[in-house]
Formats: sequence, C-alpha cells, structure tokens
Amino acid sequence: MAVLFTVTLSACSEHGKESGESMGGVDNNNADRWYTESMVSQGKPLYQANCAQCHGGFGQGNPDWRKPADDGRYLPPPLNGTGHAWHHSLDQLRGVIKYGRGPDVPSDMPAWGEKLSDEEINAVMAWFQSRWPDEIYQAWSRPKH
Ligand code: HEC
Repeated sequence: MAVLFTVTLSACSEHGKESGESMGGVDNNNADRWYTESMVSQGKPLYQANCAQCHGGFGQGNPDWRKPADDGRYLPPPLNGTGHAWHHSLDQLRGVIKYGRGPDVPSDMPAWGEKLSDEEINAVMAWFQSRWPDEIYQAWSRPKH
C-alpha cells in the first residue's frame, strides 16, 4: 500500500510541473475521456440511487476502506479517484460492478448485472470517473505494462 501511495504522489507532483502547458486552449476537465457528458448526467441519478449509500454521495467511500473489518470484509472504497479504483482497467471495473467480487471473495459489493443494463453501468462509471482529477485519469489511462 505504501508503495502505491508513493507512486501516486510522485505522479501528481511530476504532473504539477507540466500543468502550465495545458493551460491554453481547452480547459475541460473531461477532455479526452472515454465517456461523454451526457453519460455523466445519466449516471449521476443511477449512482445516487444505487451506489451512494455505500460509496458515499460524492464517491468518497468509507474512511476505513483500506483495512478489512473484524469479519474480514472490506468497507466500500472511494470511487472518486482517491481509492485504488484507478489501478483497475475499465473492463475490471465493469466486471466488479456487473458481477460483484465473485464467490471466492466474501464482499458486500452487490452484483448489478441483473439490475442495471450495460449502458447504465457505463453511465455510472462515467459519473464516478468524472470526479477523477486529470492526474489520476491520465495515470489510469496510460498503458499498463
Ligand atoms: C451494499 C454496499 C454497496 C453498494 C450498494 C455498492 N457497493 Fe461497490 N463496493 C462495496 C464494497 C464493500 C466494495 C469493496 C469490495 C471488496 O474489496 O471486497 C465495493 C467495491 C466496488 C468497486 C471496486 C473498487 C476498487 O477500488 O477496487 C467498484 C468499482 C464499485 N464497488 C462500484 C459500485 C457501483 C458503481 C455501485 C452502484 C451501482 C456500487 N458499487 C454499489 C459495497 C457496495
């Protein structure tokens, strides 16, 4: 965990140095993202209705998400870019949302495949990714080795 955190911090400060370059022209936080603004608007109420009670109204998660509770289960992690969601590919995130964590991992994360269509799941992901700062989004979208 500590290692991942260091990587995050250095990625951020590196980016800070470059930020001047991106000042001119398009200053849209959602520039070059995989989703559209209309997906974000569609995802917002779906997120509030289905996910907010666990992951928080702003995707902030439970402050104690890093360590398992006494029963070994994890608390809902943040989805706003401060958790580890950005270490997972789009397909992995979609998989967790659609199928839950799978039978081998005891978890309170429900499987949404029966309740939400693929389109709705994409919209929900668009909403929480729209909360990711550019540094996080760029680190996430960089090809993984
Ligand atoms: C009943 C509580 C609950 C609800 C409702 C819920 N989640 Fe979760 N979610 C969790 C928990 C707990 C975890 C952590 C699971 C684990 O690591 O074992 C999790 C994990 C996740 C992850 C993986 C994040 C990561 O960093 O690995 C994603 C993505 C996610 N949830 C998205 C959603 C979305 C989208 C919705 C609404 C459609 C939703 N969740 C609704 C409890 C919930």
